[in-house]
Amino acid sequence: MTRGQHGSIRLGVNIDHVATIRNARGGRHPDPLRAAHLAVEAGADGITAHLREDRRHISDTDIARLKSELTRPLNLEMAATPEMLRIALRHVPNACCLVPERREERTTEGGLDVVGQKKSLAPVVSDLKAAGIRVSLFIEPDIRAIEASAELGADIVELHTGRYCDYAADDDAKGAAAEIERLAKGATVADKLGLEVHAGHGLTFNTVAPLARMPEVVELNIGHFLIGEAIFGGLNAAVRRMRFLMDEARAKVSTRVSA
Ligand code: PXP
Repeated sequence: MTRGQHGSIRLGVNIDHVATIRNARGGRHPDPLRAAHLAVEAGADGITAHLREDRRHISDTDIARLKSELTRPLNLEMAATPEMLRIALRHVPNACCLVPERREERTTEGGLDVVGQKKSLAPVVSDLKAAGIRVSLFIEPDIRAIEASAELGADIVELHTGRYCDYAADDDAKGAAAEIERLAKGATVADKLGLEVHAGHGLTFNTVAPLARMPEVVELNIGHFLIGEAIFGGLNAAVRRMRFLMDEARAKVSTRVSA
């Protein structure tokens, strides 16, 4: 197990939604690679990006730039399709996290059906592994899915924390506690089977601690909340700088006029 940059649990920052904002206008700003560098500077151990079939956020060029310029491992999230497999084999990221993907979904809903899709996943897992890419399967904390992941030869399982976070957001303490129990049990079983345990989806400042406390969990992947929160951490400085630049430019004009 590789230790994190700053402690024993690694943080993977998902920068998809920097690209979502960029794509709202086209053009190049804000640049996901710049965000990735900032995240690493701030303590991220790795960067995660999901190249979706519809390219709604991260683009092929983003993946190429991230792979060639990042100083930390790149975790490429992708559907197990022939197109994505070709892209992964071209760029050889540190890890590939296979996720279910439906065009109409807003985000990754639920984990991979590893039991039902074992046959179609097997060649994708083995091709990625043969290329030296670590393979992670994004699954619900379900014992059968965890066992099937081990049988498939995955290196990692990423446990889906979405349901836990939904309960927490609804202030359903009982539901959240039950999900934490399911995640903890899943983490123990996966670890015993020799799988590296990651977790993620929907995590926030309020929900991260119980996952970070689980001894078997070595990495958390967090995106949407961090990018949203960055607005509140960064808007003040951005508005101040704009205010300064406007006032400075106007002050020069007034001096010229009155001189
Ligand atoms: N892990 C996986 C496998 C994901 O698909 C996502 C969402 O792209 C995340 C983690 C991060 O989820 P969030 O953006 O809600 O933090």
